[in-house]
Amino acid sequence: MSDPSPGILGIETSCDETAAAVVDMEGNVVSSVLSSQTDVHAQYGGVVPELASRRHMETIEAIVKEAMDQAKMPWGDLRAIAVTRGPGLAGALVVGVSFGKALAYALGIPLIAVHHLEGHLASAWLDQQNFLTPSVMFVVSGGHTHLYHAIDRGRYELIGRTLDDAAGEAFDKGAKMLGLAYPGGPAIDRLACSGDPRVIRFPRPYLNRGGLNFSFSGIKTSLLYYLRDLDQREQSKSMADIAAGYQEAIVEVLVEKAFRAVRRYKVKGLAVVGGVSANSRLRALLLARASEVGIQLALPRLGFCTDNAAMIAVAGRQAYRLGRFASWELDAVADLSASALDGLESSTEFHKAGESEKR
Ligand code: KG4
Ligand code: ZN
Repeated sequence: MSDPSPGILGIETSCDETAAAVVDMEGNVVSSVLSSQTDVHAQYGGVVPELASRRHMETIEAIVKEAMDQAKMPWGDLRAIAVTRGPGLAGALVVGVSFGKALAYALGIPLIAVHHLEGHLASAWLDQQNFLTPSVMFVVSGGHTHLYHAIDRGRYELIGRTLDDAAGEAFDKGAKMLGLAYPGGPAIDRLACSGDPRVIRFPRPYLNRGGLNFSFSGIKTSLLYYLRDLDQREQSKSMADIAAGYQEAIVEVLVEKAFRAVRRYKVKGLAVVGGVSANSRLRALLLARASEVGIQLALPRLGFCTDNAAMIAVAGRQAYRLGRFASWELDAVADLSASALDGLESSTEFHKAGESEKR
């Protein structure tokens, strides 16, 4: 067997997953290890920031070692360390940034700062290296519902976003109302599989307004009222039908607006990434529509939709090729802007639609 080629180590600790991964210099994922904290937070019905950072501190060393072991890569073969700088939970981010910085310094290799969204965007290429630009790229996660016109790989123009809650939040909060366990998205997805989405029709928020923007706060209220008045309605409505109807309303808006963006920007490709892209109904509708209109669709494999470090390592490899390294003063930035990567360390250009190009 030939020796493994050198690689980049990615580290992700922005929320409740401690993750490390190695990609080789061709962009192949050679290891991806993740320790989920679901058990820690489930009893509280959501992520508790202090507990998240403590668990990151306890596990990060073992997770990084495991990623290197699985990659069968000697430390000396690492060319750089890429770490999520933000946005995310401050205390959680600091753990990854400090660990990555110390390790890079000790190994004498460059440190790369990755914007969490840039990581999700890069996940489109993890399994589909031939995904073409220009295209529309859509980040649907617990913190973001952001539509981008990807002019080129690494050059993203923001063309639409949620004005309030993210799609993942609508799933999580809806699940809580339905009495389902955290994390809510996968729970609704599972329950909805045995329900009929046509039994209860929830409003499609912003479907015919707001251009390419979204609003998901109203749909939670619809569910709240629906559940409050349930006693007076036929009791035969099953929880599965309610979950399916609720999911359908969110998913339909996501699909419609994504394809509206594809038409408006006249592109031949669409990538949908981030935690919500793991949703089975969303994936089914996207696949059907993409084949109907004949465009290339990039959907990460399930393990790469939700937070992971492979996407951070791949985004880091792109930055490495461009020679964009972070300084040793790098800090975690919890509220790092989604529409602009503002630091000099950024490896990606984000523009607001209409803003002049930087190059
Ligand atoms: O990308 P991610 O892991 O973290 C953020 O950057 O936010 O996304 C997490 C979000 C959560 O809101 C979770 O409920 C949602 O993704 N999610 C899903 C599914 N799997 C995860 N939502 C709907 N259906 C799923 N199967
Ligand atoms: Zn994420």
